[in-house]
Amino acid sequence: MKTLFLSLVISTLLSLSLSKELCNSHDKKVLLQIKKHFGDPYLLASWKSDTDCCKAWYQVECDSTSNRIISLTIFAGNLSGQIPAAVGDLPYLQTLVFRKLTDVTGPIQPAIAKLVHLNFLRLDRLNLTGTVPGFLSKLKKLTFLDLSFNGLSGSIPSSLALLPNLGALHLDRNRLTGSIPESFGTFKGSVPDLYLSHNQLTGEIPASLGNMDFSVIDLSRNKLVGDASMLFGLNKTTRNVYLSRNILNFNLSNVTFPSGLENLDISHNKIFGSIPPQMTQIPLQSLNMSYNRLCGQIPVGGKLQSFDNFTYFHNRCLCGVPLENCK
Ligand SMILES: *[C@@H]1O[C@H](CO)[C@@H](O)[C@H](O)[C@H]1NC(C)=O
Ligand SMILES: *[C@@H]1O[C@H](CO)[C@@H](O)[C@H](O)[C@H]1NC(C)=O
Ligand SMILES: *[C@@H]1O[C@H](CO)[C@@H](O)[C@H](O)[C@H]1NC(C)=O
Ligand SMILES: *[C@@H]1O[C@H](CO)[C@@H](O)[C@H](O)[C@H]1NC(C)=O
Ligand SMILES: *[C@@H]1O[C@H](CO)[C@@H](O)[C@H](O)[C@H]1NC(C)=O
Ligand SMILES: *[C@@H]1O[C@H](CO)[C@@H](O)[C@H](O)[C@H]1NC(C)=O
Ligand SMILES: *[C@@H]1O[C@H](CO)[C@@H](O)[C@H](O)[C@H]1NC(C)=O
Repeated sequence: MKTLFLSLVISTLLSLSLSKELCNSHDKKVLLQIKKHFGDPYLLASWKSDTDCCKAWYQVECDSTSNRIISLTIFAGNLSGQIPAAVGDLPYLQTLVFRKLTDVTGPIQPAIAKLVHLNFLRLDRLNLTGTVPGFLSKLKKLTFLDLSFNGLSGSIPSSLALLPNLGALHLDRNRLTGSIPESFGTFKGSVPDLYLSHNQLTGEIPASLGNMDFSVIDLSRNKLVGDASMLFGLNKTTRNVYLSRNILNFNLSNVTFPSGLENLDISHNKIFGSIPPQMTQIPLQSLNMSYNRLCGQIPVGGKLQSFDNFTYFHNRCLCGVPLENCK
C-alpha cells in the first residue's frame, strides 16, 4: 500500500515536471528563428517547438535558476549561411560558439555587440570575412576570444587591449594586415595568451610589448621586422614563444631568457649574434633556431645538446655539438 502511494506521488511529480516547460518562451522563439534562418539544418534537428529547450535541445544550455539560455554552441557539421542577427536577442548569453562548420560566411555579426554578458566567444574555422570589429572591446566580460582560421582582413583594433579579463586572444590564420597595436603592451588585469600567427602583419613589434608578461605569444608566419628581444627577460613567466618565419633582425647575444621558458621557435628570421650561455639554464622542451644568422659555439649544458642538428642548422657560423666542432 505504502509503495503504491509512493509510486503514485513520484509519478505525479514526474509528470508535473515533464509538463512544466522550463524554456523561456522568448529565448525559444529566438532559437527557432535561428534554426529557420539556417534552413532547418539536420545539425539542429533536436530543436523542436514541442520540446523543452532546456531539457531536450542539443547545442544550448539554460541557467539552472533563471532558465534563460546562457550557452549556444554549434560545432562541427553542415551549416550554411551567415550568423543571424537573432543571436543578439539572447540577452543572457555567456558562451557563443560557432566553429568548424562547412559554409558559415559573411562578417562577424554586429548584433553580437548586444551580448554584454558574453565571456566566451569562439567563431573559428568558418569562412568569415570582413574585419575584426572594434565593438568586441565593449564586451568587458570576455575571457576568451577566438576568431582563428577565417578570412578576416584589415588591421587589428587597438581597442582590444581594453578588455580587462581576456585570458586568450586567437586571431591567427586570417589575412590581417597592418602592425601589432602599440596598445597590446597595456593590457590591464589579465595578460592574454596571444596568437597572431599566419597573417600578414608588418612593421616592428611594438617596444611596449616588453611591459607585458605573456605566458604564450605566437607571432610566427607574418612579415614582422626588427627587434623581438623585448619579449624576453629573466623575470617573466613566459613559457612559449613562437616567432618563426618573419624578418626579425636583432642581436641575440645579450638576450636573457625567462627562467621557465619551455618552447622557443625563432627559425627563419635574420637573427644574429650568438647563443647566450644562460640558455643552458632554461628547461626547454623544444627549440628551433634554424635559418638565421647566428654564429659561434653552441653553449654546452642544459638541454642544448639534447636537440638534433635541425634545431641549429642553416645559420652563419654556429658550431659545436650537435653541429660540427668549432674550428
Ligand atoms: C555534410 O554533408 C556532406 C555532403 O552533403 C555529407 O557527406 C556529410 O556526411 C555531412 N556531414 C554531417 C556531419 O552531417
Ligand atoms: C571556405 O570556402 C572555400 C571556398 O569558398 C572552401 O574551399 C573552404 O573549404 C571553406 N573553408 C571552410 C573552413 O569551410
Ligand atoms: C628580477 O627579480 C629579482 C628578484 O625579484 C630582482 O632583484 C631583479 O632586479 C629583477 N630583474 C629584472 C631584470 O627585472
Ligand atoms: C651586452 O651586455 C654587455 C655586458 O652586460 C654590455 O656591455 C653591452 O653593451 C650589451 N650589448 C648590447 C648590444 O646590448
Ligand atoms: C652582438 O652583441 C654582442 C654583445 O653586445 C657583441 O659583442 C656583438 O659584437 C654583437 N654582434 C653583432 C653581430 O653585432
Ligand atoms: C644532421 O644529423 C643527421 C643524422 O644524425 C646527419 O645525417 C646529417 O648529416 C646532419 N646534418 C648536418 C648539417 O650536420
Ligand atoms: C626547425 O625548423 C626547420 C625549418 O623549418 C625544420 O626543418 C626543423 O625540423 C625544425 N626543427 C625542430 C627541432 O623543430
